[in-house]
Amino acid sequence: PPESHVSLTVNGTRRTVTVDNRTSLLDLLREQFGLTGSKKGCNAGACGACTVLVDGRRVNSCLTLAVRLEGAEVTTIEGLADGDELHPLQQAFIDEDAFQCGYCTPGQIMSGVGCIQEGHTGSPEEIREWMSGNICRCGCYVKIVRAVQQTAG
Ligand code: FES
Repeated sequence: PPESHVSLTVNGTRRTVTVDNRTSLLDLLREQFGLTGSKKGCNAGACGACTVLVDGRRVNSCLTLAVRLEGAEVTTIEGLADGDELHPLQQAFIDEDAFQCGYCTPGQIMSGVGCIQEGHTGSPEEIREWMSGNICRCGCYVKIVRAVQQTAG
């Protein structure tokens, strides 16, 4: 199958790789880079478990082709903490107990960071709407929204 070279920055590190043109960003992250924090739930854009930031914007990495990311800056859950210091939203998820099984949590947190950066945090309803692409089968939505709201301040 056709392959391409792509150079992108992942969590601050420049990477140049050869990928099959059909490879998703999610598979590149998980299988070639060993960054397994981003989860594969549906692999079809319906659950949000694979959410990462590309140039500061939220994307479903399962729907994003790696070859399209020449020069892009990707941030995953692994790149969110500052050394031993958790990102405030990571800490808020712990403080609010905003998860049960944890499978959706990396995607929820990355989506929450995007939601805060975009300024869609005026009310619980607004947060719920702008986080609606992230499904939680355990039903932790109330606490997730609370964590996002507290972090937004
Ligand atoms: Fe990408 Fe579900 S795995 S949206």
